[in-house]
Amino acid sequence: MKVLITGASGMLGADLRTALGEEHELVLADVVGDVTQMDITDTAQVMSVVGACKPDVVVHSAAYTDVDGCERDPDKAYKVNAFGTWNVAAACQKYDAAMVYVSTDFVFDGEKTEPYIEYDLTNPLSHYGASKLAGERHVRELCPRHYITRTAWLYGEHGKNFPYSIMNAAKTRKELKVVADQIGTPTLTVDLAATIKGLIETPMYGAYHVTNGGFCSWYDFAVEILRLAGVTDVEVLPIKGEEWPSPTRRPAYSVLRNYSLELQGRDNLRPWQDALAWFISRVKE
Ligand SMILES: NC(=O)c1ccc[n+]([C@@H]2O[C@H](COP(=O)([O-])OP(=O)(O)OC[C@H]3O[C@@H](n4cnc5c(N)ncnc54)[C@H](OP(=O)(O)O)[C@@H]3O)[C@@H](O)[C@H]2O)c1
Repeated sequence: MKVLITGASGMLGADLRTALGEEHELVLADVVGDVTQMDITDTAQVMSVVGACKPDVVVHSAAYTDVDGCERDPDKAYKVNAFGTWNVAAACQKYDAAMVYVSTDFVFDGEKTEPYIEYDLTNPLSHYGASKLAGERHVRELCPRHYITRTAWLYGEHGKNFPYSIMNAAKTRKELKVVADQIGTPTLTVDLAATIKGLIETPMYGAYHVTNGGFCSWYDFAVEILRLAGVTDVEVLPIKGEEWPSPTRRPAYSVLRNYSLELQGRDNLRPWQDALAWFISRVKE
């Protein structure tokens, strides 16, 4: 198949290139990097790029992902995450492409005490979550052949992320304060990319939660990162979410259950601890 990847220069984009490039013909698009330049907020440009390459599937990973930035500048959040997605969905509809949209656990309010399934009601607390949810709606309305993949706490080799921040902070500090009252599931971009590859090869369009197995707090995640990295002389101190300086309200509990994948008998994502161990051994090399 011919697959167009938006946000191809981003953290997930890099691993999508590797996973999908093995078997599919790729067209790579972003606003940065040595790829086809396509600003998703430019309707004419999106129509022109999609119309020129006529992909079978568009994997739409581009987004304004700075959560605090979205809170400070909601218009930019909606412009990129909602209107940008609207453009991509309209182009998919016009040129008859299926569409993958990468969404987020931030569409939920975190009031539940057991994992969220795809049929649970959404109620975002932040402009990032609301703008990503608006993107989901455009995809559902315009593009019947869609796969909406909600994921969480992403990290991977090719981007800024929590494991890198913790490992870097541990080089210069003996104490790290980390939020212990927000629970979710760290998810490796390589594992999400492999799942997306599997999905686009099926006709099972719909909504999917895609995270690694299990759950933890940011504090637990940090402790495990340092343990696996062999750092023994740094103490991790648990703090409350409200003590962390951020304008963004985050869900206290945003564990996603990969229920659609489970129902199809194809939830084969490994536990987050195993994925993290693989990641740390790879970046240590
Ligand atoms: N990171 C997470 O924890 C997480 C969790 C759940 C869901 N997600 C979703 O997963 C997807 C991938 O996330 P990621 O962490 O890989 O993000 P990322 O590294 O920020 O990659 C996103 C890419 O999109 C580009 N982009 C921004 N505005 C654009 C525009 N107007 N037109 C075209 N491209 C634009 C970015 O360029 P710039 O770098 O120049 O902005 C970047 O290269 C996103 O849809 C995100 O919402 C992420």
